[in-house]
Amino acid sequence: MAQHRRHRAASARMIPVIAKAPDNPPMALLPPVPLSTLADEATAALQVAFGGKPVATAMAPGRVNLIGEHIDYCDGFVLPFAIDRYVVMTACLNGLEAIRVGSGSDKPVTIPLSQPLDPGEPAWTNYIRGVVRGFQDRGVAVPGFDAWVVSSVPMGAGLSSSAALECCTATLLEALTGADLPGREKPLLCQQAEHAFAGVPCGIMDQYASTFGEKDRLVFIDCKTNEHSLVPFSDPDLTLIVANTNVHHELSDGGYASRRRATETGLAILGKPSWREVTSADVEARWNALGDPINRRCRHVVTEISRTLAAAMALRENAIDELGPLMAASHDSLRDDFEVSCKELDTMVEIATEIGGAGGVIGARMTGGGFGGSTVTLCRSAHAPTIAATLHDRYHQRTGIVPEIFSSRPAAGARQLTPLATQADSPS
Ligand code: GLA
Repeated sequence: MAQHRRHRAASARMIPVIAKAPDNPPMALLPPVPLSTLADEATAALQVAFGGKPVATAMAPGRVNLIGEHIDYCDGFVLPFAIDRYVVMTACLNGLEAIRVGSGSDKPVTIPLSQPLDPGEPAWTNYIRGVVRGFQDRGVAVPGFDAWVVSSVPMGAGLSSSAALECCTATLLEALTGADLPGREKPLLCQQAEHAFAGVPCGIMDQYASTFGEKDRLVFIDCKTNEHSLVPFSDPDLTLIVANTNVHHELSDGGYASRRRATETGLAILGKPSWREVTSADVEARWNALGDPINRRCRHVVTEISRTLAAAMALRENAIDELGPLMAASHDSLRDDFEVSCKELDTMVEIATEIGGAGGVIGARMTGGGFGGSTVTLCRSAHAPTIAATLHDRYHQRTGIVPEIFSSRPAAGARQLTPLATQADSPS
């Protein structure tokens, strides 16, 4: 999938590379591309490529996780939010037994619909193929259509561009087929697409955040019951800065699956049916039996579950300063116990820590799957531009890599767009 022209195409799960720094350093805090611009771009491209006028347009956002990392597949709690960076897809029916889909300057891809879909090439189309297959498996007749995809979600940045593409496809298919995926059916169908068609055994966090995100709300998810609630985050004095390190280390996909397996092995050794029944004392008591590194993986799971509960409580009680130590401990645990951080993520968090409370930083940590990708820094809004500039400049000095830095308020989740709706950048 190509991205909106302000972003480079470097996809983690598709093209695992260390992204090249752009020739012109970006502004410290990149503004979002308006949703209406993305929709207009997709509409114009659809017309040029296929001569069609859209009958349906959908969007779905990327996500940032505030806290609760690598525990969505451990019956844990997570606290992500949808960001104001989106995948937008627009489509028209083509009367063929095929989907034709294009993005960026790549040649449009034809996907025959004569049989249930299987994974295929190019890799980015698997997110679309997998979701179409989910509809087919539910007995929904998917008609032939032409579609164009545009995205402002930085790819390979740990910001769930793939979940956004899945949730956007599902939302577009709802419009094209008249089928409805109520409640949690949409994120669960999309998660299944990721497992079966992209080969990533992910949890439910990304697809839930992209589906259920709301303006000025964090999405608190109980990953045991798959229920979620919304936590208000509307104080204009608070800003969330996302710093994309612009690195993605190879081995990341294998690293994710191996971390998930380690938690499953650990739980089996602990002899408990669910992580919700495991305490820190249980892990300490079986430390040697678990062995290294499984014991440290288990300690991360148990401590991250408590930190996430504490963070959700602090937010609900407006005890914002309590989030700083929780975010710091989360990052340390992901670095030392779960070992999914990397030196670039650590450097970005160190810089935020150096700026500290005096400079308006409340807390910082890596966000998402890790092995590269992004950090999230919670800060006081008055300081946000200076913090962004400092993160940008010091990170560049220390690593030689130009990061991509932006802020996002919690934004709306996946939805169909009408021409009128695209005029608002953050529909609620
Ligand atoms: C990836 C996965 C999520 C979650 C995070 C880590 O984003 O897709 O399900 O496990 O990593 O918290």
